[in-house]
Amino acid sequence: MQTNPIGIFDSGIGGTSIWQEIHSLLPNENTIYLADSANAPYGIKGKQAIIDLSVKNTEYLIHQGCKLIVVACNTATTNAISLLRKNYEVPFIGIEPAIKPAALNSKTKAIGILATKGTLSSELFNNTSSLYSHGLQVVEQVGEGLVELIEMGKVNSEEVRMLLKEYLKPMLEANIDYLVLGCTHYPYLIPLLLEMLPKHIKIIDSGEAVARQTKAVLEKHHLLNTQTTKSKNTFFTNGNPEILKGILDNRFEVDYLNF
Ligand code: SIN
Repeated sequence: MQTNPIGIFDSGIGGTSIWQEIHSLLPNENTIYLADSANAPYGIKGKQAIIDLSVKNTEYLIHQGCKLIVVACNTATTNAISLLRKNYEVPFIGIEPAIKPAALNSKTKAIGILATKGTLSSELFNNTSSLYSHGLQVVEQVGEGLVELIEMGKVNSEEVRMLLKEYLKPMLEANIDYLVLGCTHYPYLIPLLLEMLPKHIKIIDSGEAVARQTKAVLEKHHLLNTQTTKSKNTFFTNGNPEILKGILDNRFEVDYLNF
């Protein structure tokens, strides 16, 4: 069981930002990455549709023998993870916007959160947010259109820049000093965000914390792969394999799969 793969799924290519962190912390682990790009974006869908897609992805990964599943999508985590944990025996790791470190460290007492509509309207997000938002202005912004453009491979495009300009405006007006990225696609926008934001604003995403949590859960369940042979990393997409390949710097093969 220890050599079985870790399964990772996302609504598309964004969850590779999480895969990169897991792979660099746990290079011996075999992984299977599932990019459900044909159904992206999840963030504009209703709760039941997000649950149905998360179940479909989970079942596929379980059939491949995955020993742990990382729901590398904030929208799927906030809407579906409690049901997945109830219905399947494998351990699940979810991704939530990193509000806590931003809230605890903010000096201006204003933080920004960029996420999908599905995440910002979820019960799990709102419960977490209300735990940490006392005495703090939390500027929530739906990143409408960003996931679609990233899925098209337009990470550095003028369209993305225009949308970000619009979405960052209310945050800058509120004098935020932390920007929380609440969608696993958004870390790919960090180079652009660093260009556009004043230097004192820090950007936080959940990637490293998720990788550490993955390691801790594997250890707890005695599932850590202790073999030192080169790991096998498999990538499947039901979208365009070239785009997923590109975001992985062409270092891995990507197969089309009609799942
Ligand atoms: C989406 O599919 O809309 C975004 C995925 C995420 O929330 O991380």
